[in-house]
Amino acid sequence: MILLDGKSVAAARREALKPRVESFKSKVGRAPHLSVVLVGDDPASRVYVRNKEKACHNTGIDSKVYNLPADISQEALDQQIEILNADTTVDGILVQLPVPKHLSVESIMKKIKPEKDADGLTYMNSGFLLAGNAIVKPCTPLGIMRILEHYKINVEGMKAVVVGRSQIVGKPMTLLLSDANATVTMCHSKTKDLKSYTLNADIVVVAAGKRRFLGRGDFKAGSVVIDVGMHGSGAGELCGDVRFEELLDVAAAITPVPGGVGPMTICSLLENTVQLAELRAINYQK
Ligand code: GUN
Repeated sequence: MILLDGKSVAAARREALKPRVESFKSKVGRAPHLSVVLVGDDPASRVYVRNKEKACHNTGIDSKVYNLPADISQEALDQQIEILNADTTVDGILVQLPVPKHLSVESIMKKIKPEKDADGLTYMNSGFLLAGNAIVKPCTPLGIMRILEHYKINVEGMKAVVVGRSQIVGKPMTLLLSDANATVTMCHSKTKDLKSYTLNADIVVVAAGKRRFLGRGDFKAGSVVIDVGMHGSGAGELCGDVRFEELLDVAAAITPVPGGVGPMTICSLLENTVQLAELRAINYQK
């Protein structure tokens, strides 16, 4: 069984990013910059945002977090995004999701300039992704493709099952897997007999958002299992959507939680930010 060690793959990729950051700094006179907007004080979101900030700092990327109150109006949030859109020293913008229910994710995804969309989640970039020519891709699916590449797991011709159909993970994941020539089935909470799909798959990406949802009897021997889940427990331990310990002698390769998909997601965010910064710098010079 191969442990797909996202923590070390992400660390190596962050090191590889440093010379690009240095080169950008010497050409442009400042570091690439990511602005992160956090609305409200959801504890999990606060941890994710802190981890993103730390990763930026360790890679030489400049970042600033805007903590906005949970009861902020849509107009005020839109104004903040407009300010960041117009600021020439901001290369990437990310609004941490979920946002409080009175705010519109659609409005946010339309408002962020596609050229500054570090998350790759704006509607414009989603359209480019569908067309197969995205500049930046959503961070979690991209991180998953990169960890597969690192371990030389070629999905071409594989039967792939994605469990979950979110805008952030499930939907874009199916596109990236099919672009890599896998045959993809998207399953979700209304799928009847989920096991009949996962049990026949060569690779399963589990993004169901349900703690320890799938285990030993759900997967084919020798399959690749990617666990996108991230659930805290009372004791402070994290677990995923998969009962990891049941799969050690079933899966050919599996991502742990923590230390699998999470660090790869953050790494993709840094890579997207640097890429957007480089593209904007080229455009200044034109
Ligand atoms: N919340 C959970 N994952 C993500 C992500 O990739 N981007 C943003 N903006 N919010 C998230």
